[in-house]
Amino acid sequence: MMNNKFSIKDLTKKDLENKSVLVRVDFNVPIQENKVLDTTRIEASLPTIKYLLENNSKVILISHLGRPKGKKDLKYSLKPVYDFIKNNLNMNIIFLDDCIGENVELEIKKQSYPSLILLENVRFYPEEEKNDRNFSEKLSKLADIFVNDAFGTAHRSHSSTVGVAEFLPTYCGFLMEKEINFLSKALNPEKPFVAIIGGAKVSSKIGVLKNLINKTDTLIIGGAMTYTFLKALGKNVGNSFVENDYLVTAREIIELAQKNNCNLFLAKDHVVAESIDSENTTIVDDIPNNLSAFDIGNKSIDEIIKILSNAKTIVWNGPLGVFEKPQFENGTKKVALFLSTLKEKGVTTIVGGGDSVAAIEKFNLTDKFSHVSTGGGASLEFLEGIELPGIKVIKDK
Ligand code: 3PG
Repeated sequence: MMNNKFSIKDLTKKDLENKSVLVRVDFNVPIQENKVLDTTRIEASLPTIKYLLENNSKVILISHLGRPKGKKDLKYSLKPVYDFIKNNLNMNIIFLDDCIGENVELEIKKQSYPSLILLENVRFYPEEEKNDRNFSEKLSKLADIFVNDAFGTAHRSHSSTVGVAEFLPTYCGFLMEKEINFLSKALNPEKPFVAIIGGAKVSSKIGVLKNLINKTDTLIIGGAMTYTFLKALGKNVGNSFVENDYLVTAREIIELAQKNNCNLFLAKDHVVAESIDSENTTIVDDIPNNLSAFDIGNKSIDEIIKILSNAKTIVWNGPLGVFEKPQFENGTKKVALFLSTLKEKGVTTIVGGGDSVAAIEKFNLTDKFSHVSTGGGASLEFLEGIELPGIKVIKDK
């Protein structure tokens, strides 16, 4: 899939000058005691924001934060994000405590060109998640142009991601464009192509596994999912976490891999313990009945590194073990460290959202990958081959 969507780069200075631009960003960031704990998503939106300001636009940022269930609940206010932008990024910005209505329209009108405005959480209105047409129209009244830069929310068909596009000329921002370009490489990869799909549950990864099987040369299964697959193959998994309802699915995936000449890699040795809190661990090939596996062993790590050494494109979604615990971090850490050496050798390394992003952050490797997606659910659905509604709504050139 080539990214052929209209982007803000297709707009001239004249198109943007003295225009109001509604920019959907994903500022759904972790907040504690009014402080933003992870600013990655905010910083990732800056290229779009700065470009529009440089072109003398009035930039109106709209986002959700958390799941306030359609009610105004200040626990989910975007005010701490405003404070961060104003105080830590030293940008001139104003905050409006609503996102639609006459007052908001009036306040926006009062601002000069260029200026930067952040609206309050759009999910304070129940209409947002229903993609209500009237509500979308109200949002559209705030601006002349709509820019969707919220890749992290592109899998949601909501008013501020999809509905508003019916009423305004719509373009993707630089972050959205970058996400589409990199994640598309995983769907049209330079070969050999290896995917590492980890995490606890097969049930949450079926779509992505099935879609990647006919694209990858090797598909490495990691995390607790491994034990559902091993049990499906008749192996002893001891007390390891298994989704017994998905043994048939796991078998189907194994057969699909065989049919598609995809090498499905499953760990050969395991770090086992009595419980997740136990510090007393051993590495075994066969898991004893009374123990559970929480990480992959050294033999498996070596084999994975050998497979990755030959790849030209690698996508990684989901950790290989319980990396949050030092005694079970080795597999995820060693593989992450090896992956972090590949970008400079010309290999495309893509980390697709969620827990694997948390893992590379823990090991301070974030800037050592070709691309680290800002989308969790969105990147997973993208890799499943689904055209995300927030992307679909942007016209092709
Ligand atoms: C995310 O963090 O995955 C996005 O911001 C979407 O949030 P949601 O799952 O609440 O729609």
